[in-house]
Amino acid sequence: MAAISTAALTVRIPPSAAAAQPASGNTDPTGPFVLPPLPYAYDALEPYIDEQTMRIHHDKHHAAYVANLNKAVTGWDGLDDKSIEDLIRSLAGVPENIRTAVRNQGGGHLNHSLFWQMMSPHGGGEPQGDLATALEKKFDSFAGFKSAFTKAASALFGSGWVWLTIGDSKELRLEPTANQDSPLTAGRTPLLGIDLWEHAYYLKHQNRRADYIAAFYHVINWDDVQKRYHDAI
Ligand SMILES: [Fe+2]
Repeated sequence: MAAISTAALTVRIPPSAAAAQPASGNTDPTGPFVLPPLPYAYDALEPYIDEQTMRIHHDKHHAAYVANLNKAVTGWDGLDDKSIEDLIRSLAGVPENIRTAVRNQGGGHLNHSLFWQMMSPHGGGEPQGDLATALEKKFDSFAGFKSAFTKAASALFGSGWVWLTIGDSKELRLEPTANQDSPLTAGRTPLLGIDLWEHAYYLKHQNRRADYIAAFYHVINWDDVQKRYHDAI
């Protein structure tokens, strides 16, 4: 699977976001953020995630987060050399005038960029190696993880995400975030996430979120999750 390039996730913001100031120079509404290409065909996740949902989800919803984020940072001189991860991680340092926009639109850009990588047409099954061991340690078994993840995803009220995360203590945790908030803002690294906005499943599953959650397990890219786990430990 083609990974999203670092360049695609790179944003241009200042060394210290807290020092950002409005400027007259950067008025390019098309940058600095870029919509990463979907790393597989729109229909590659069929029959679990349908082509039309993927097309609209990536080309319209994710694209809108990128465009609105670019609009938000336009004119803010110095918001030009941090990655989207660092931007969301240090949200408190973003100028207050645009902090909510960066939180929502930047979070949407980051979350979806990760989400495409967390799925694969060759996904599904179970993780192997030390991630499998870590999941068993935390949830007793892979079945225990699935049960807990499904329960959390089913229980989330409104629009948001449920994540498998890891923090400084190296302990795995399941946690929900509302809207487009990212675990990164709370200092935790997302390893796996499921998009629970209705736009992620309504065309195929309508109100049957449980069916979408069940389908998601067939496309989880455990190799990607394992890589994130290794990077974090
Ligand atoms: Fe989404």
